[in-house]
Amino acid sequence: MKYLRFNKNSKADYNLLFVYEDKLSSLNKSALSDAVFEDVKLAISNKLVTGASGSMNIFSSKMYEKNYFLVGLGQKNKLTIQNYEKNLNSALKKINGYNIKSISLDLNNIAIRNYDHIKSSIIEIEKTQYSYKKTNTSSLKECLLNVSSKISNKQLNNTIDISIAIANGLNKARILGDTPPNICNPTFLAKEAKKLEKLNKNLKVEVLDEKQMRTLKMGSLLSVSQGSTQPAKLVIIKYMPIKNKQPIVLVGKGITFDTGGISLKPSPNMDEMKYDMSGAGSVIGTMQACAEMNLKNNVIGILACAENMPSGVATRPGDVVTSMSGITIEILNTDAEGRLVLCDALTFSKKYKPRYILDMATLTGACLVGLGKYPSGLFSNNDVLTKKIKSSADKTGDRVWELPLYSDYFDELKTNFADIQNIGGRYGGAITAAAFLANFTTEEKWAHLDIAGTAWDSGNDKGSTGRPVKLLTDFVMTNK
Ligand code: BES
Ligand code: MN
Ligand code: ZN
Repeated sequence: MKYLRFNKNSKADYNLLFVYEDKLSSLNKSALSDAVFEDVKLAISNKLVTGASGSMNIFSSKMYEKNYFLVGLGQKNKLTIQNYEKNLNSALKKINGYNIKSISLDLNNIAIRNYDHIKSSIIEIEKTQYSYKKTNTSSLKECLLNVSSKISNKQLNNTIDISIAIANGLNKARILGDTPPNICNPTFLAKEAKKLEKLNKNLKVEVLDEKQMRTLKMGSLLSVSQGSTQPAKLVIIKYMPIKNKQPIVLVGKGITFDTGGISLKPSPNMDEMKYDMSGAGSVIGTMQACAEMNLKNNVIGILACAENMPSGVATRPGDVVTSMSGITIEILNTDAEGRLVLCDALTFSKKYKPRYILDMATLTGACLVGLGKYPSGLFSNNDVLTKKIKSSADKTGDRVWELPLYSDYFDELKTNFADIQNIGGRYGGAITAAAFLANFTTEEKWAHLDIAGTAWDSGNDKGSTGRPVKLLTDFVMTNK
């Protein structure tokens, strides 16, 4: 998609204007042709145009060959980024059905708090261009941005470039998530990561195989891939453009298929466990965005990739393994495998002396039960880091909700047969999972995002959401 600045002489097949139900009169007259403005005024007085959230009205003027799409956003001072994106998305979907080549977006009237409305719009437009089967042959090629004259061309072009990099990273995470699990296995993810090297000379990828992981004593991670014919991979994506600066480390759960292992999952919807690598997918997407926008910050991505299968040589409930940290783990449920791969990846990440470690994981069904599918679960051992993540989440609309890590939860992991066990009691499963991970990052500033509810949509709209790439890209851009 081509993005250009809208000016007086610009011509687009469709012009998108945003209207508020409590500010109908503030409609940007200069963005409408005179004849249409009269039509719109009449429609407003007849209550045909209401500005209500979810409403859309189309006006055409044959004489001027101009078409207007009035998109309602509800009340102006209540506009949230979610609401804006939702309404823009519905409008774009409708437009995609019209077989048109160009649109203009009047962003002068957008008042989202915090986040850059240009960025948000471009990412939303790029998202509608995504189709896993590539059957979405959208005819849209050009988008004209009508923005305040206070924004210089240089600033606008810079914002456009950054937004496209983020959107590409987000769509990359979606492709990886949507790719079927017979193709997207640990080796595939490692190859996909390797491809990032060609984007930027500051990006280097290392892949550790099972033999190398055994040498590092990653007994926990290896216990997960043990039952699968697909070998585990630990992928390290280093983006280090700055000398002598401690990196931010992003660790992703990369279970390319989670059957549950010997603690086998029930059959319904098991296909969705192809999305159990979404944490790793979001890390690849974020690293790609960093490389594409030439970010001036050091970021390292680590992917803990394995397939969780039952077999004659799979890990049994009751097995005790020794993690890279030396902590021994009694595996009481082989379906709690995410924490088993992550704990070794977290221990490994310490060698980079990270400023912050963030891990992203589709870790627990309990998180989905507790929080629903709108926010990711947030856990951290550091208040400053928590604030920073919440700030990126609020800004980007890639929401999080913090859950507690009281010492009581840690007590639930005690066992007579090892240092810790890999499951807690019946309740608070998202938290006991996070507490398990916290045992491996006691000296680091660490946060964990449980994206079990947010990484993909189910039902008719089944597909990866690319979350939390927007949050992560904002985090690495903000915390330089
Ligand atoms: N990948 C799953 C978590 C999951 C389940 C995410 C459903 C999204 C939807 C994870 O590996 C898992 O199986 N967790 C178990 C943990 C339990 C055994 C303590 C769960 O949530 O049931
Ligand atoms: Mn599992
Ligand atoms: Zn899993």
